[in-house]
Amino acid sequence: MKRIGVLTSGGDAPGMNAAIRAVARTALYKGMEVVGIRRGYNGLLNGDVFEMNERSVSSIIQRGGTLLFTARCPEFKEEAGVLKGVQACKDLGIEGLVVIGGDGSYRGAGDLSSHGIKCVGLPGTIDNDIASTDFTIGYDTAMNTVMELVDKLRDTSHSHDRCSVVEVMGRRAGYIAVNTGVACGAVEVLCPEKEYDVEKIIEKMQASRKIGKQNFIIIVAEGVALDQPNYSFDLAKYIQEKTGIEARATILGHVQRGGSPTVRDRVLASQMGNYAVNLLEQNIGNRVVGIRGTELVDYDIQEALKMQKPFDDALYDLTKVISI
Ligand code: ADP
Ligand code: F6P
Repeated sequence: MKRIGVLTSGGDAPGMNAAIRAVARTALYKGMEVVGIRRGYNGLLNGDVFEMNERSVSSIIQRGGTLLFTARCPEFKEEAGVLKGVQACKDLGIEGLVVIGGDGSYRGAGDLSSHGIKCVGLPGTIDNDIASTDFTIGYDTAMNTVMELVDKLRDTSHSHDRCSVVEVMGRRAGYIAVNTGVACGAVEVLCPEKEYDVEKIIEKMQASRKIGKQNFIIIVAEGVALDQPNYSFDLAKYIQEKTGIEARATILGHVQRGGSPTVRDRVLASQMGNYAVNLLEQNIGNRVVGIRGTELVDYDIQEALKMQKPFDDALYDLTKVISI
């Protein structure tokens, strides 16, 4: 394989640049040509591309976001859009494509693969909601960002004897929420995977108050109420009304998607980018790369999309015990 493309798709994630850098440098090291495709599948369909060289990815490993920009491309969900993408690859001489994104982007890569374009997907999303890998690129950085921000909130909650209700990202998954809940000493973590009872949470807060607990952190995964933008604010108001404890809500929002990637994300992204090009060099496509423990693995795209990711019930239960 002599000429490959690389793109980032869906929500951006810190570490994507490290992955792009590893893809480009590995391919160039192996004597391949590299086409950078901007703004996800849109760039492929609209010819928003450029030739990459070793210097195209200089000084980006430490930067959040994506050098290639990203976007969502509804057109690609239609067969006509996919066929247009196949033709674009042929016109550009692209034999293989590295797609850095989430499950949705994987579906697009699978469609291209079914038409002969060899694609390899890398798990780029802060949500960690991709079952074919233990960790996604961006997840570690996002959790550390949340931890730093919640620690700041704890300062003011402590000063005012307050309850902070903090909403975190994760789309329909609670992995960010449950891990940062433990890391930040939350009294409760509300996540889509687990049923909860607000009245019982209030009873627990009142019991802790009686033994001297003065301030409280509650982490809410956005997925518990994706259709209720004011959920966290309403929860804080209800807690204050029922307990008399002053409560304030904070939605961390898109700050969780920015920042310089951590060592873990930089190393993970570099390893995965290199692994993807090694597959393409062997003319292997229709795969997605993951990590299991410390071992890099790859799976058939369609198999990967059928996988289910377990939720760590023990970690979730831990927050209830060590936060009394
Ligand atoms: P993520 O990749 O982070 O899950 P999205 O779900 O928004 O993000 O998908 C990103 C892009 O992948 C979409 O804008 C679209 O171009 C493409 N895509 C998503 N779902 C499909 C699908 N079922 N078939 C083909 N392409 C898809
Ligand atoms: O998938 C990453 C993510 O940040 C989710 O956690 C969040 O729900 C979503 O993207 C936000 O999407 P957008 O950036 O389009 O608002």
